Parts: sequence; C-alpha cells; structure tokens
Amino acid sequence: MIKQKKRKGIILAGGSGSRLNPITKATSKQLIPIYDKPMIYYPLTTLMMIGIKDILLICSPSYLESFKNLLGNGENWGISIKYICQEKPEGIAQAFILGEEFINNNPSVLILGDNLFYGNEISQILNEANLDEEGATLFTYPVIDPERYGIVNLDKNKKVISIEEKPTKPQSNLAITGVYFYDKDVVTYAKSLSPSKRGELEITDINKLYLKKEKLKVKSFSRGIAWLDTGTFDALHEASSFIRTIERRQGLKIGCPEEVAWRSGFIDDVKLKRIANSNLNTSYGEYLVDLISKRL
Ligand code: DAU
Repeated sequence: MIKQKKRKGIILAGGSGSRLNPITKATSKQLIPIYDKPMIYYPLTTLMMIGIKDILLICSPSYLESFKNLLGNGENWGISIKYICQEKPEGIAQAFILGEEFINNNPSVLILGDNLFYGNEISQILNEANLDEEGATLFTYPVIDPERYGIVNLDKNKKVISIEEKPTKPQSNLAITGVYFYDKDVVTYAKSLSPSKRGELEITDINKLYLKKEKLKVKSFSRGIAWLDTGTFDALHEASSFIRTIERRQGLKIGCPEEVAWRSGFIDDVKLKRIANSNLNTSYGEYLVDLISKRL
C-alpha cells in the first residue's frame, strides 16, 4: 500500500490591508474581528476541519508577535503552528517559496487569511481535494462582481478554457476562492514565476501552469455555501452580521478553534475544560464550558 503523504497547511495573512485604513493602520487585517472572533480563526478552523494539523502562518513582520500572542504554537488545539514573515506583499504565490522548507516535498493547501467559508458541505468537498495528491484543485463560487477576483472560463462541457486575474471584461461570473490544493510541484512552479505588471507573484500564474500541464481540477461551491467577502467596510460588517445571525439562532459557534479541535479529537475534555476555565469571565469561555457539560 502506498503511504499517503501528509498535506501541509499554509495560511497567508500578510498584505498591507490598506483598503481598510484606518482600521488596519496599526494591526493586521486578519486580526480584526468578525463578530466574536479574530478573522484568522475562520480560515484556521477550515483547515482544522479537514484534519490539517501542520500549519504555517505567513504574516508581515510588524504583526508576527500579535499572531504569536493569539495563536501560539497551536499546542492548545492539538496542532502545530509555525511562522514565517513575508517582508513585503510580493504576491500570494510567494507563499510557496517562503514555505519551501516547511512543505518539504509534501502536498499542500493554501488558504487566504481573509477568506471565510461556511456551509455543511464545505468539509466534505475540501476533503475530497485533500485526498487527491495529484495536480491542483481550485474552487469557484458565483459572484456578481467577477472583475474583483481571479476567474475561470469554462466551455459548454464545463472544461476549463482559461483563467484570468481581475479581468476588466469578465467572461464568466465564476470567481476563484482563496483555498487552493497543490501537489509537491507547486514550489518549483512558484520559483519559475516572474512578477506580474503589478509586481506580484500571482497565484493565477501558478494555476495557469497547472492548466497547461492538464493537471488542474476546478470544482464549484454551490449556492448553499457561503463564501464571505472581507474586503470593504460594508463586507466586513455584513460578514459579522452573517456569523452573528447564525450563531444566535443555533447557539453554536462558527470558526471556534477549541471546539473544532475537541470535536475532531485533537484535544480531550480535560484540555478543553482547562482552556474554558481560563476564559470563564467571557461568553466565549461559557460556551466552551457548555460544550462539555451539555454536550452541545
Ligand atoms: O479571495 C480570492 C481572491 O484572492 C482570488 O480570486 C484572486 O485570484 C487572488 O489574486 C486574490 O485576490 P485579492 O485581490 O483578494 O488578493 P489580495 O491582494 O487582497 O490578497 C488576498 C490575501 O492575501 C489578503 O489577506 C492579503 C494576503 N496577501 C496578499 C499578497 C498579495 C499576503 O499575505 N501577501 C501578499 O503578497
């Protein structure tokens, strides 16, 4: 039997976040709250939900200490979190060059630190890609403003014809979401790229290389899944309202690392109780206590 390689997870949480100034003048975009948790908890738990336990967080040097203060080495949640700084936001694809040693010839999954996914099919769909070690898998989502994203053009048989980054005249409304699965070759591909006109190593260029080699798989998230935007003040507010609405209706939290770790068996009752006890004066801590005592 061929042993399956362990996929490594990368969360890209750098960038200048300047579009959200002054909120992001003194902090990182991915640290600002989406309702009751820092934004970074959402992509982090998306990775944890598909069993990714070995994670590299890439951030700008200015906020390394803040991320470390928040997330630590992951031990509390039964995972490992390592850190690398990206000196300047020189493109999403640079993550694979910075992460070469961490990836260590394994398949990887990259998630953008400002991407929020919600829906009960998410884990299942991402898990299928996780188990597939060949080539690359991307996920699309229909949007009303495709010119703001990388987009995929399909022919009438749903075969990918082309991929474009923020086209001025988009041919489709299928945006490429910020979660990408790659085989071990992604590091070599990233190293072969030249900066684009805007001076970045583009993730779209990596995907084009996989397309050229006929190793690109594109799956679609259905309309039953929410892929939330966090790029503008209104989008941030709407994302917070969305999370608040669902959490208050169900009494269950979205994107809670302690809960995901506990439900996934990364930590046991004793460890969860210890974390809950150190947060007792907050509703977040009370929620963790209820998880154990009421078996929510
Ligand atoms: O959200 C999905 C979209 O993300 C894709 O459809 C696009 O193809 C892809 O290029 C990207 O577009 P954005 O315009 O959203 O990329 P942005 O520059 O905003 O960066 C996304 C996140 O990655 C953001 O949290 C900042 C972080 N980042 C970005 C760059 C360029 C870094 O940490 N380092 C970087 O060098």
